[in-house]
Amino acid sequence: MGLLDRFERYPLTFGPTHIEFLPRLSEAVGGKVEIYAKREDCNSGLALGGNKLRKLEYIVPDAIAAGADTLVSIGGVQSNHTRMVAAVAAKIGMKCRLVQESWVPHEDAVYDRVGNILLTRLMGADSRIVSDGFDIGIRRSWEEAIQDVKDSGGVPYGIPAGASVHKLGGLGYVGFAEEVREQEAELGFRFDYIVVCVVTGSTQAGMIVGFKADGRADRVIGIDASGTIEQTRAQVTDIARNTAKLVGLGREITNDDVHINPDYAYPAYGVPSHETNEAIRLAARTEAMITDPVYEGKSMQGMIDLIGKGFFPDGAKILYAHLGGAPALNGYSYTYRNG
Ligand SMILES: Cc1ncc(COP(=O)(O)O)c(C=O)c1O
Repeated sequence: MGLLDRFERYPLTFGPTHIEFLPRLSEAVGGKVEIYAKREDCNSGLALGGNKLRKLEYIVPDAIAAGADTLVSIGGVQSNHTRMVAAVAAKIGMKCRLVQESWVPHEDAVYDRVGNILLTRLMGADSRIVSDGFDIGIRRSWEEAIQDVKDSGGVPYGIPAGASVHKLGGLGYVGFAEEVREQEAELGFRFDYIVVCVVTGSTQAGMIVGFKADGRADRVIGIDASGTIEQTRAQVTDIARNTAKLVGLGREITNDDVHINPDYAYPAYGVPSHETNEAIRLAARTEAMITDPVYEGKSMQGMIDLIGKGFFPDGAKILYAHLGGAPALNGYSYTYRNG
C-alpha cells in the first residue's frame, strides 16, 4: 500500500524519472563519493517540465472538482512554477492568470522577455508583472488576482507560489520518495543522502514525509536558495507536518527531520555567486547536465562544497534531485557570455 493510493492524480508527467550515475562529476570532486541525479527536469512533455508537475498532478483534480475555469498563481518574473501552471492550464483547457513579482534585482536587458516568461506568454497565460519583491508566503496581489477573476465572471482556482502552501502541495514529493524506493529495489542499493534545492518548501517537505517512512527524513539535505532561511524552514516544517497528517503517516515530523543548509543562498535569491557559476559550469562540462543560477546551481554548489568539506562519508551514494529550471538561464545571458 502506497501513502498516496487514496488520492486522485491527474497524470502530467511521463512516469518515473530516470536516475543516472554521474561518473565524471563524481571524479571531478575527488572520487570519494558516488553522485547520481534523479532527472525531475526531464519529467514531461509540458513546456520543458520540472518539479511543479508532480505537485500539480494532485492539485488539478481538486481544481476540476471545484468547477474552476481559471488557474491563478504567482511567482517571480522568471518563475518556473508559473510556467508550469500556464502549461497545465493550456493542457487541461483552462485559462490562466499570473502575478509575476519582481523577486530578483536583475541586470540582463532581456530578463523579462526570455526563458520562463516567454514560454508562459506563448502558452496564452495572462501574465502581469508587479513591482513587489521576494516573499514565499501568501501575497495580497495573488488574492486580488483571484478576486479579479471572480469579478469578471470567472471561476478561479488559486495556487500559491511554488504550489507549496496548498493543502495538497506536499503530496507529489511523497510520491518521489516512494518512486526512489522502487528504483532502489531494482538498482540493488539504497541512497545515503538526497540533496535538494529548497525555496517555497513543498518539494523538500514531501520528501521528508516520504523518506520518514523508511527512516531517512534527515538524510534529505535541503540547500536553501531563498536567502530567507527562517521563513523557509518554518514553511517546510509546517508543510511536512500537514502532509504527514494528510497521508496518515502515523508519525510526527520533528525538527530533527528538517535539515536545511543556509550557506549557499548568497548574495540573494535569484543572484548567483561566483561559486554558484563555477558549480553550474562544472556540471555542464563534466556531464552536460544543465543547472540554473536561481535554484539548481545553488544546490549543485552546496553539494560540491559539502563533498569537499567531508560532510558525506567516503563511499556515500548521493542522489541529487534535479528539479528543472534551465529556462531561466536565458535571463542571465550576459553572465554566461563567455561560458
Ligand atoms: C528549478 C527549481 N528548483 C527548486 C525549486 C524549489 O522548490 P520548492 O519551491 O518546492 O522549495 C523550484 C521552485 O521554487 C524550482 O523551480
